[in-house]
Amino acid sequence: MVTVRPFLSRRSLLWALLPVIALVTTMLHFRSFEDIYFSHDDASSDEPFHPPPADVEVVVTRPTSQWCQVGECSTGRWVPRTPEFQSLGELQAAYMNYMEDPWSHCPVYQDVNGHLIPDDEKPALEAQRLVDLLNWEWVPDRGRMLDLDFEDFVVRLLRSPGGMVMIGDSITRQHHVAITYMVRQANLTFAYNPDHLEYTNIEHVHQFVLHPSPTALALAEKAGVPASRLQRPFLTLIQNHLSLSEAELRAITQADPNQAWRHAQARVDDWDKIVKHLATPIPEEENTVTEDTVVLFNSGAHWSRGVLYIIPQSTMAEEHARLSDAYRKMARIHIERLRARLTTPYRDGAQAETLEAGASVRLMQTAKNNEDRKTFARWDWDQFAPHNDIFREEIARENARQSAPRGRPPRWHYLDVYDIALQRPDAHWEPGKDCLHWCTPVVVDEWTRQLLHQLALVEGRLPEDE
Ligand SMILES: *[C@@H]1O[C@H](CO)[C@@H](O)[C@H](O)[C@H]1NC(C)=O
Repeated sequence: MVTVRPFLSRRSLLWALLPVIALVTTMLHFRSFEDIYFSHDDASSDEPFHPPPADVEVVVTRPTSQWCQVGECSTGRWVPRTPEFQSLGELQAAYMNYMEDPWSHCPVYQDVNGHLIPDDEKPALEAQRLVDLLNWEWVPDRGRMLDLDFEDFVVRLLRSPGGMVMIGDSITRQHHVAITYMVRQANLTFAYNPDHLEYTNIEHVHQFVLHPSPTALALAEKAGVPASRLQRPFLTLIQNHLSLSEAELRAITQADPNQAWRHAQARVDDWDKIVKHLATPIPEEENTVTEDTVVLFNSGAHWSRGVLYIIPQSTMAEEHARLSDAYRKMARIHIERLRARLTTPYRDGAQAETLEAGASVRLMQTAKNNEDRKTFARWDWDQFAPHNDIFREEIARENARQSAPRGRPPRWHYLDVYDIALQRPDAHWEPGKDCLHWCTPVVVDEWTRQLLHQLALVEGRLPEDE
């Protein structure tokens, strides 16, 4: 996660979240996962960019605190839950939701011998699987974590102009589904893309506004913000599969311009404009809505040679180097985009060249000539960890550079959820097959807990040590 300060006047808090994964859920439930993988020809070769090393710093270090610190909370293990859930009923009581159906199952497909499970045996096994999966809890090696108090978090979000903006791929969408479950658990209901908002007609931008129910009004009061704050989003989801435009992707991969572009996944090229709009305080609330807007950003799982098939083909080592180079440029583009004002010119000629190199191909129609899946070997699931480190380093570099900031640049923090996810292969939607997505809310709820703890930590809101 990253803290970055803002543009127009106030702050924006940017969290970079780099998990392992990605996929497609609907607003309420899981749908299917579709990706397009093509092979490609080779192309030009520029020297990869080798940045100078940067120290990856721990933002807050109080090794004697009873609370785990940044960099500590995500180092630990999953231990059996105490007390453990004995039944689905018990679990559902703990996850009680008066507004939507409670979590009920995780799918089962085959028994241990690989035989398909008959349909009539599935419901009981599917319920049991969810119970089993949630009978583990994350414990940091050192220090405690805050109890997850979601209502408190909503209060925190109402104190910021934009609340929380989640940007990412299908895994973010899963996380978002689990977050909205928590919202409803707090007896809060919300409207989706109401007409009075901007950006409601942009595909893949989903803005959520709390209904001014007595419960919501009480939270606004607790937040010390006027009821008018409820009219603007407390939560926004921007689905951005690769998080860059075609032109940007072509430029940073040094793709052959003749290589057709075949991606059909969700994309919102103007995400930064939307974030800036959401994070901009309105004058009447300038004195009450004073916290940073939280941006939870995830782009990782699809940064592979399989998805970025436009990377020129060569040896695996060279392709991986090109991929990592592209990933670093992607990280930089995100950091730069939020730093700049909307009307700021490119920093210099080199930057303009990089970002505009693909402009001519923007107009190109995509041609049909797919050679289909080289897939699995090219999904590059072994590249997540080095990619995570890239973002961690870029954030550290950015924070080091901002020692004498002009205005209030966004603050970046790295939210490390990799190990937490890596340790739960059992909790994937279909273990062994879909190794990206989760049976929600397993794992993603822990990300939320990490987010809330780390946010409280860097904002100095943790209770004093006893
Ligand atoms: C939500 O509403 C139900 C039913 O009215 C109530 O029993 C429950 O305590 C409420 N929960 C919260 C978190 O306010």
